[in-house]
Amino acid sequence: MPATPSGARGAIITGWGTALPDEIVTNVDLESKMDTDDAWIRDRTGIAQRHVGGTTAGLSTEAGRAAIEMSGVDPAEIDALVLATTTPDRMVPASASTVQNMLGLSCGAFDVNAACSGWVYALVTAHGLIAMGSEKVLVIGTDTLDRITDYTDRNTGILFGNGSGAALLEAVDGAGQMLGWDLDSLGEAESALFAEIGGFLQMEGREVFRRAVRLMADSATKALTSAGVSSDELALVVPHQANIRIISASLERLEIPMEKAAIVLDRTGNTSSASVPLALADALDAGRVGDGDLVLFVGFGAGMSAASAVVRWGADRGPALERPGRAGT
Ligand code: COA
Repeated sequence: MPATPSGARGAIITGWGTALPDEIVTNVDLESKMDTDDAWIRDRTGIAQRHVGGTTAGLSTEAGRAAIEMSGVDPAEIDALVLATTTPDRMVPASASTVQNMLGLSCGAFDVNAACSGWVYALVTAHGLIAMGSEKVLVIGTDTLDRITDYTDRNTGILFGNGSGAALLEAVDGAGQMLGWDLDSLGEAESALFAEIGGFLQMEGREVFRRAVRLMADSATKALTSAGVSSDELALVVPHQANIRIISASLERLEIPMEKAAIVLDRTGNTSSASVPLALADALDAGRVGDGDLVLFVGFGAGMSAASAVVRWGADRGPALERPGRAGT
């Protein structure tokens, strides 16, 4: 749907939703498929179980519908659907097109692939659309990693699962929620984590771990600087849910206590593009975020990509303030 640039204006999240397939694979279930054990996986990753099954379009539709219903927005008024996924159902078309049809939307729809940073990339992209005149944008993050994970390979099979999370963004006259953001990519490290078309994920676990801690801390610092806030002002951090030890090491670098982190990976494993919105929804549903609270989203993943955003929760409908700043790279 065409839109007219309208100058500085921001967005607020007015609804959110999630979807997880019914089938659960516990660490104990994996013991019969590979040389591993429940205690090792919990200790080294923090993961106890993951969900498998479903399709990227199906899970996206469920999460997206919940976000739309919560916001109370008429689906006919949605201007764009941005779907972050690294596991589309088909090569062509974008899974967003299928989701648009299943949700009965009349709007532009496209996929964003930035691996596990995808939802934060999509969130920033959606803010760009709103700054250019869109009124309502649905931002979904979904992955069905069971289709590219070898559950007999103990190097990767313990980590990944399926899920979806969505947020409905609405334009506001003022600056909106987003105060600052950062998008990064370190293409030289792409061989640390990849899947060829039709193949399984291949990973150098220690290398990914080492780079992830630094990438998360660096990207978060850039977003915080661009937002003009310090880490001790944050009420909540919503990190990519890859490994509890990566989260704790990166938060230590940022001097943020672990109590401020939103964590769902014990129940979901690493759901890639879905992990940040799943953890955000969990924290919101638990009442962990109040009006005026500062929240940091920080993702990293294959690429290696990284993305962060700082938002001030609540409905900022005041006069237009400064535009969100973009961190330098
Ligand atoms: N179950 C049981 N033992 C295992 C195991 C498993 N699944 N995987 C490895 N081990 C063993 C190793 O054989 C090794 O044994 P040894 O000391 O007798 O030689 C020991 O555990 C340590 O292996 P190592 O590879 O050093 O483990 P690690 O502490 O690095 O943990 C990962 C492995 C994969 C959990 C960890 O490297 C990691 O999380 N990396 C980041 C991966 C990630 O987040 N990817 C997604 C990014 S979006």
